[in-house]
Amino acid sequence: MTVQEQISTLREDGPSRAPAERQADRGFGLPVGWWPIGHASEFTGKPRPVKLGAQPVAVYRDGDGTVHAVLDRCPHRRLPLSMGRVIDEGLQCGYHGWTFDGADGQCTLIPNFKAGETPSSRIKVAAYPITENEGLVFLWTSAGDPESPSGLVPLSVGPATSSSAVVCGTALVRAPYERISEALLLNPGAALNLGPLLGSGDEVLGPDQESDGEGRAVTVRRDRLTLDLPRIQTFEAPLGGVTTVSEITTLVATGFTTVVADTPAGGSVRVLAALTPTGPHRTTVRWRVQAHGNAARSLLAACRAAAAAKQLTGRAGRPLEAAADAVETAFDPALDQLRALRA
Ligand code: FES
Repeated sequence: MTVQEQISTLREDGPSRAPAERQADRGFGLPVGWWPIGHASEFTGKPRPVKLGAQPVAVYRDGDGTVHAVLDRCPHRRLPLSMGRVIDEGLQCGYHGWTFDGADGQCTLIPNFKAGETPSSRIKVAAYPITENEGLVFLWTSAGDPESPSGLVPLSVGPATSSSAVVCGTALVRAPYERISEALLLNPGAALNLGPLLGSGDEVLGPDQESDGEGRAVTVRRDRLTLDLPRIQTFEAPLGGVTTVSEITTLVATGFTTVVADTPAGGSVRVLAALTPTGPHRTTVRWRVQAHGNAARSLLAACRAAAAAKQLTGRAGRPLEAAADAVETAFDPALDQLRALRA
C-alpha cells in the first residue's frame, strides 16, 4: 500500500466526532474517546490490572478470544477483580467468588446461593466497550453509545501485509499525555528515536497543515532531513535524497498518532503511537512500526537496538521525556492548532 493510499484510508476511516467535549466519562477524568490500553498480546485468560486516567480497570480475554474490561473493584467488598480468575461464567472475584459477565458487568454467579437461586439484576460491575484494532486494544470511556454517529472511532489504517515488517514497543514516560502527543506532532522521528525512518533533523519543508473541519484531528505534512545533520549547508541542493516526507495525524482527544512516511531507502513506513494516561504526569506509550517494501530492511536495522533490548521500557522512555520537555516552549503553528482545539 502506498503512502497516499494509507493516508486516504486513514481519512476515510478516521474519527467522526468533535473530541474536545467532555461528556460523562464514567470517572476516568479524560476526554471521551477510544483510549488505547495495551497491545493485543498483553491480554490473555489471566486478568490484568490497567490504570486509565483515574480509573482502575481489570482486563481479560475470554475463552472465545474476546477482550473484556470491567472496573477493577468488586461490588461486594471492593477487592480488585484483576486478582480473580476467568471461568465460563465470566470474571470471578478471588475473595468470595462472585462472578461477572465481562460484556455487561452483570453478576452471573454467587457460589453460596442455593440451587435455582440467581443473583439480583442490580448486582453489577461497570463494564466498558472494547475494540481491537491494528494490534492495539481500545476502551470506550463514555456512557454514550460508541456506535452512534457521535462515536469517536479509533483510526484504522489497514492490516499488515506479508511484505511488511513490524516492530512494537512500550515505554513508561514521566510526562502528561498531552505533552507527548505534541512532541510526536512536532517531530515523531526524534521523539520515537526513529530518525532514519521518519526524519528527525532540520525541517526542509513544512508544516503544511490540514484540518478535517470538525476539530477532531490535526494533520501535518513535513519534509525533514532523515539524519540529524549538524550543518545543512554542507549538503548540496536538492536535498530530496536525504529527506523524509511524512504525514502526521494526531487525534485531539486522545493524542493517538499515526505517521505515514516515504523513506529514502524506498518503500513506506507507518507508525502508530498510542498514549495511555496513568496519572497527571505519567503516560504509557505503546508504538507499532510497520514498514513495507525496501523500507522493511531499514526498519529492522534502525529498530534493532531498541527492539532487542529487554529494557525497552526504561530506555525508550528517555528520548520521549526529553522531547516532551522540549515542546514546553516550542513555537509551531501545528502545536498552536492542537492546543487551541483542546482548549
Ligand atoms: S469481595 Fe468480591 S466476592 Fe466478595
